[in-house]
Amino acid sequence: MKMSCHASSSSSLTTFTALAFFLLLFPSGSSSAKLSINFYSKTCPNVLNTVRSVVHSAVSKEHRIGASLLRLHFHDCFVNGCDGSILLDDSSSFIGEKTAAPNNRSLRAIAARDSTEILGGPSWKVTLGRRDSKTASFSDANSGVIPPPTSTLNNLINRFKTKGLSAKDMVALSGAHTIGRARCTVFRTRIYNETNIDGAFAKTRQKNCPRTSGSGDDNIAPLDVSTRDFFDNKYYKNLLNKKGLLHSDQILFNGGSTDSLVRTYSRNDKTFDSDFTTAMIKMGNIQPLTGSKGEIRKNCRKPN
Ligand code: HEM
Ligand SMILES: *[C@@H]1O[C@H](CO)[C@@H](O)[C@H](O)[C@H]1NC(C)=O
Ligand SMILES: *[C@@H]1O[C@H](CO)[C@@H](O)[C@H](O)[C@H]1NC(C)=O
Repeated sequence: MKMSCHASSSSSLTTFTALAFFLLLFPSGSSSAKLSINFYSKTCPNVLNTVRSVVHSAVSKEHRIGASLLRLHFHDCFVNGCDGSILLDDSSSFIGEKTAAPNNRSLRAIAARDSTEILGGPSWKVTLGRRDSKTASFSDANSGVIPPPTSTLNNLINRFKTKGLSAKDMVALSGAHTIGRARCTVFRTRIYNETNIDGAFAKTRQKNCPRTSGSGDDNIAPLDVSTRDFFDNKYYKNLLNKKGLLHSDQILFNGGSTDSLVRTYSRNDKTFDSDFTTAMIKMGNIQPLTGSKGEIRKNCRKPN
């Protein structure tokens, strides 16, 4: 696929780099210090269509790509802002984020809105103009800013609060688990040892996730047992039925302060879509590099 407004050396974009553009940016004459919907309207008017078509073709080849892109965006934004740092390979001057615990062996590719929309979910206007970081941080990615699936409800709420996101944003964003997969190693304890889980559901998951750690660790299961590749509110209905796959999913509906939100989203798909959209926009605005900060990488994987 050709991008005439892409100034780097490669004229044909691989899926990887093209998807990266969704989160990142374009060489552009504009030095505006703010994100805006029209950022590329003069310098790269076709950017949104191009990204959409690349994401579309990637998702149609493999549904899970959409989920992986959505998650990538979350993990990028929570570690020093939405600056593409997660895409950088390790280098002589830093160890990057790709092998940090929340990402190692679980991170697959890269774009959020288009993925959501293609899988049946909401769409929204994305502000553009995020520039790329010149560095990445293994230790920051491992510092707990990205909450682990073993988190308590309080930890989930606090981690999001630190990023300017409310408990409501957190519950709505967790609805991203309406698509995608998780590995046995992250839900083993839940399906063997927790009590707030539907018995038949636990048994089904145990079939492909052996009790002993070290065996079948990378076997995957859908995060949403009802409609695995469709962006809808079934995730919340599952929680009402004790069929959340991760500890951090079920904890949202376990007699605590977020129960009522889960109930609301389980009953009302429109409210979920609208709160999810609001929260995605907030998350995408965490500490972006704008104006002359950062740079525009020629190769997504390394600083210029
Ligand atoms: C609330 C705190 C969250 C926790 C504890 C959490 C945890 C996890 C874990 C453990 C996995 C499976 C990873 C693996 O198997 O290696 C996962 C997958 C996923 N997460 Fe989250 N997550 C959270 C919030 C979010 C948010 C805010 C988003 C996006 C808006 C998101 C999107 C996804 C997606 C789409 C997948 C599936 C990825 C794929 O199939 O490749 N998660 N999450
Ligand atoms: C990442 O996973 C690989 C493969 O399991 C492992 O060899 C490596 O030690 C892990 N890296 C870190 C930093 O944990
Ligand atoms: C379940 O709990 C027991 C007792 O605490 C522990 O020894 C075991 O490793 C746990 N099993 C899993 C799969 O987490």
